[in-house]
Amino acid sequence: MENTSYDNLPGYIWMNGEFIKWADAKVHVINHAMHYASSVFEGNRAYNGKVFKLEEHTARLFKSAEILDMKIPYTEAEINQACKDILIKQNIKSAYMRPIVWRGSEQMGISAQDTKINVAIAVWDWPSYFSIEDKMKGIRLTAALYQRPAPDTAPFRAKAAGLYMICTLSKHAAEAKGFDDALMLDYQGNVAESTGSNIFFVKDGELHTPDPYCFLNGITRQTIIKLAEQANIKVNVRTITPDELSTFDECFLCGTAIEIMPVRQIDTHNYTPSSVTKQLIEAYVELHG
Ligand SMILES: Cc1ncc(COP(=O)(O)O)c(C=O)c1O
Repeated sequence: MENTSYDNLPGYIWMNGEFIKWADAKVHVINHAMHYASSVFEGNRAYNGKVFKLEEHTARLFKSAEILDMKIPYTEAEINQACKDILIKQNIKSAYMRPIVWRGSEQMGISAQDTKINVAIAVWDWPSYFSIEDKMKGIRLTAALYQRPAPDTAPFRAKAAGLYMICTLSKHAAEAKGFDDALMLDYQGNVAESTGSNIFFVKDGELHTPDPYCFLNGITRQTIIKLAEQANIKVNVRTITPDELSTFDECFLCGTAIEIMPVRQIDTHNYTPSSVTKQLIEAYVELHG
């Protein structure tokens, strides 16, 4: 039987300052992160052997750790270097990279002030599988099971493992209904994002995207806003209500992993991925090289 587990990929993982054989980069079951979700992570991509927006991702990793009261025992420069080193060690050009920070097992309880803060960076082969033409067919979203929590109920600016529980459940429910992903509203009932990426709409040649007051302000989202401004496409960052879904011409998701992914349907609303989405995909491809 084919072994498809991520436990056994070839090569090495950078773990607490050393290259550890991939299959040996383990943690014990008694581990604060697993029991209490004390873990933050990043999702980076490398194109042509270079990590895209590396400094921005590392800065967010440190911010996420700080929000979760974890002091990373390295500098940002050291983590940036470790990301470059593991990419070379793994000898991969088009990659997905997962830096992760977590509390160890020195204390088991809600309070975890004296746990060791661990860091690992794994990287694996991940070319862009879809041509622009394939992507332009678009994916299908349905309403999510869960809403993004209110800002005073969750540390929403952190890319923290615990915040993904509602995303996994919402994505499972969407897939069970035959959709690709779920559209999450926020605690006020406004349009927020998908389970792992931000969302944009196009109307009359202008972009509209929700204000990230209670969800991750993605690095790709920020990049797209800049690309749009350079291309003289107006960007409206604002509250978007579900009533408006029927009024948009185009829609796309964006994130480091998914890049720019056109959406052709959100439940009863249909969109035609077209010129503005395509223009931004092309600009994004040109930027990451
Ligand atoms: C919930 C969520 N929103 C948005 C994003 C997009 O973030 P980025 O563009 O920084 O990858 C991600 C991916 O990290 C995510 O998991």
